[in-house]
Amino acid sequence: MQTVQDAPALRAAIRGWRANGQTVGFVPTMGNLHAGHQSLIKLARARTDRVVASVFVNPTQFGPNEDFERYPRTLAQDQAALAEQDCDLLFAPDVATIYPFGAEHSVSLRVPQITSMLEGAHRPGHFDGVATVVCKLFNLVQPDVAVFGQKDYQQLKVIERMVRDLSLPVKVMAAATLRADDGLALSSRNQYLSAAERERAPLIHDTLLKMRELLDKGHPWQVIEQTAAARLLRAGFVPDYVAIRCADDLAGPAEGQREGLVALIAARLGNTRLIDNLLFD
Ligand code: PAJ
Repeated sequence: MQTVQDAPALRAAIRGWRANGQTVGFVPTMGNLHAGHQSLIKLARARTDRVVASVFVNPTQFGPNEDFERYPRTLAQDQAALAEQDCDLLFAPDVATIYPFGAEHSVSLRVPQITSMLEGAHRPGHFDGVATVVCKLFNLVQPDVAVFGQKDYQQLKVIERMVRDLSLPVKVMAAATLRADDGLALSSRNQYLSAAERERAPLIHDTLLKMRELLDKGHPWQVIEQTAAARLLRAGFVPDYVAIRCADDLAGPAEGQREGLVALIAARLGNTRLIDNLLFD
């Protein structure tokens, strides 16, 4: 597997493949790769002739008091993990390659409406940073297919909207959330958890399952949200939101709606912020 840092080297490699009529799949990441990321590579591998992954800890999607500085950077390990998955090319740019005029002076994309709620409400500007960097990466890689995890459900919806609204020539594919045996969704941020917190963390997934159970029994979604938030609070979590929404646009469900829903949770456990979701299909 080749690793490139700058745009000309990236474009040269991809141009060669294109000249041979090969299709290109793309998996953008912030590195510190785990089995969840690897499953995305596997999915791309199955769909396209060539697979490109990127590792870039994107400054514009972190708030001023978030974990940009301490976000784990493990490039050598990531290279090994990607090579193991038969990834063809790793793009690992520096900030100046992605933001030639500086991150704070860059063109910024805003995807309206869907970014104003849930994660967007608790992390102002976060999705502007995500949309901007993903659009830039799409312009650099020009993939046929790009794979995103359902783990970051709202992010997936934001990218789908951006692609549709800007008529970007890329097919967005969703990959199922990979979990530890106890249900905790794999995340680079899980390593911030203490041993005691790690033991408690699967309660988020367990709560999502319980929410589905209550919905199946006919409980109103507003009551389920409150019950679930109270359960997390009692267990020492500080929930940012516990929500049942329409799966396609994340709007509030209609009265009595039972189909096409998703439950989403964001909660802090100690100093770690965890997010997860479950599609009710
Ligand atoms: P990152 O958190 O590194 O995640 C990269 C991709 O892996 C995302 O599409 C995410 O949804 C997916 N992913 C993370 N954990 C997963 C799991 N347990 N199962 C399946 N997929 C999982 O998301 C980002 O980076 C950034 O916001 C990015 C899109 C790269 C833009 O900077």
